[in-house]
Amino acid sequence: MGAREVGLPERVPAGGLPPRVEIWEVGARDGLQNESSVVPVEVKLEFLDRLAGAGLTTLEATSFVHPKWVPQLADAEQLLAGLDRHDGVRYPVLVPNDRGLNRALEAGVDHIAIFASATETFAQRNLNSTFDDQFGMFEPVVARARKEGLEVRGYLSMCFGDPWEGVVDVEQVVRAGKRLLDFGCSQLSLGDTIGVATTNQVTRLIEAFGDTSALAVHFHDTYGQALANTEAALRAGVSTVDSSAGGLGGCPYAESATGNLATEDLVWLLEGLGVEHGVDLGKLVETSVWMAGQLGRPSPSRVVNALAG
Ligand code: HMG
Ligand code: MG
Repeated sequence: MGAREVGLPERVPAGGLPPRVEIWEVGARDGLQNESSVVPVEVKLEFLDRLAGAGLTTLEATSFVHPKWVPQLADAEQLLAGLDRHDGVRYPVLVPNDRGLNRALEAGVDHIAIFASATETFAQRNLNSTFDDQFGMFEPVVARARKEGLEVRGYLSMCFGDPWEGVVDVEQVVRAGKRLLDFGCSQLSLGDTIGVATTNQVTRLIEAFGDTSALAVHFHDTYGQALANTEAALRAGVSTVDSSAGGLGGCPYAESATGNLATEDLVWLLEGLGVEHGVDLGKLVETSVWMAGQLGRPSPSRVVNALAG
């Protein structure tokens, strides 16, 4: 089943939109880290293989975090060892600290992502660190990773709202994000970790950064705003969007965080807007339906359900 065969609209010339969007698929990491059960490594490997087969070229594979903090991803070494790397596909992993970087280097990764918090409370809950101290943890990790020839992405969480602190100050987010870029991150992904943002906030934050060339967006879909927020980000100059197949996802250290923007929902939007994405929607839907079977519950994605047949 290809995109054309499911009756998608013809491409239309885009206005104020990037010609192509890079989809940063986080299902195997952000999705599976929040599952109550631990998914067997063989299933994770098949998931990644199918995602690559559907045309996705950035597959965030796992995390080298403390296995007690995220037991769902405690098999990171096994996963990397078993990975059938597709040509032209990159497999970044999350790394919080020196220990995580050692593990990632031993596993042969060439792309990592660090993940900071825009707020004090989430830094403590997610990283066992203060807001200020997290930068001291990440700076040497980025420097060493770059020296080893790795590419480094920076995530910034709680960029719009925080469950403990409420609305997050735009200037605070911009200052924290620019610090990560100054460390040497080649990209900064702005996270709406608990999915509360609305379009005006998104536009305002991106405009406050000024230069959008290194920005990506990472929306969770708790309040159903992720797709609208994505379009606002694209119109503000962003061209890398994070999403997870089938809408899997969430953060175990922020209970109000539900799944990410579903990749299928994103692809449907991009297709309608005439923006290139490189994904075979039919194959992706088949993958999410298969994964939902493995997890024993249906995908929350509207597009998956509409197309699953
Ligand atoms: P800590 O307990 O403060 O660590 O955790 P520590 O430095 O005090 O070390 C304690 C022990 O843990 C030591 O072992 C270390 O070696 C070991 P001991 O000497 O006692 O035997 N250790 C490790 N072992 C394996 N791998 C490691 C590691 N680090 C230390 N990497 C730490 C601090 C940062 C490690 C912990 O808080 C942690 O792992 N946090 C990760 C939480 C997480 O993964 N959250 C989800 C990802 S973030 C997210 O989902 C948001 C995002 O999607 C964007 C958005 O939505 O906004 C990215
Ligand atoms: Mg997330």
